[in-house]
Amino acid sequence: MTEKASTGSIERATTKSVERAAALLQAGELVAFPTETVYGLGADATSDDAVARIFDAKKRPTFNPLIVHVSDTEAAVRIVRFTKTAHLLADAFWPGPISLVLPREDSSPVSLLASAGLDTIAIRVPDQPTAQAILSASGMPIAAPSANASGKISPTQATHVAESLGDEVSLIIDDGPCPIGLESTVVDCTGDRPVLLRPGGITTEQIESVVGPLGVAADNNEAPSSPGMLESHYAPDARLRLNATAIQTGEALLSFGNHNHTDISSEQNLSPAGDLREAAANLFAMMRLLDASAVAIAVMPIPDHGLGRAINDRLQRAAAPRESV
Ligand code: TXA
Ligand code: MG
Repeated sequence: MTEKASTGSIERATTKSVERAAALLQAGELVAFPTETVYGLGADATSDDAVARIFDAKKRPTFNPLIVHVSDTEAAVRIVRFTKTAHLLADAFWPGPISLVLPREDSSPVSLLASAGLDTIAIRVPDQPTAQAILSASGMPIAAPSANASGKISPTQATHVAESLGDEVSLIIDDGPCPIGLESTVVDCTGDRPVLLRPGGITTEQIESVVGPLGVAADNNEAPSSPGMLESHYAPDARLRLNATAIQTGEALLSFGNHNHTDISSEQNLSPAGDLREAAANLFAMMRLLDASAVAIAVMPIPDHGLGRAINDRLQRAAAPRESV
């Protein structure tokens, strides 16, 4: 008999709720769980049926592959063929917020649907105790995109998941706000030189200190090298105006550091102290708060180094013109 939770219930992370999460995953159901980056919408990566449910729940185009989560490098090498670069990056940054795109092993148990039919798979080892506990209790690789409707802002708190996908998941495990707050860095390790596909929680500077200069993806919106990197993404309903140095009437303000702007109807400060780590952790939750109260948001300039690059990447996608649906 399948263990069935009432849809979308949020449970605090405990030994018991972790066991329930594992049982539901084994039964092919969807479970949202915390990682150090954002909350993931998890399913058994080896089951076509379970993976299909993810695409359905998120309304995600099936050409956009998912990241597969495993407990450690030992589990990863059963799924993908490691290169020298991949070993260097895994040794330096796993567990942690970096996903490696590698060729699928011939004997890989991962559903072809999870990798959208590609001969590569993006894989990562999360650095979050509850995510690790669920991986080990379920004994399976877990496919997990961010637990938001496709194209919308990623969730960094359990309540964000409940708001956008509450009816679609069997259980949401709550372990508080995600400490990094931005998705993992995605690096294509299939070629001679690793290529950055998505800036994220591990910075370019950190990666280059281990493997030397990264290649840059020759991206365009028609044929993105990482199918998830379509221009419009993280889309709030409100309009975003980036690098704002003056505030226009009616605009809410997403600020960073000290400023002298006055007469602002509503404001969230990513980091009054100007700390990029704090700003990354606050970004998505603050975008949600402002989106709920304003139709236009001015965003102060964010320094474009370290985690600032990933923050600016997400802001640019949030501000991009929307694809017609
Ligand atoms: O931090 C994260 O990575 C979160 C947490 C839950 O782990 N997950 C996440 O998944 O952000 P998602 O599905 O929202 O983003 C996955 C990104 C997409 O841009 C997708 O196109 C890319 O990784 N990707 C996945 N598999 C790929 C592959 N085989 N080749 C190239 N890009 C791939
Ligand atoms: Mg996502």
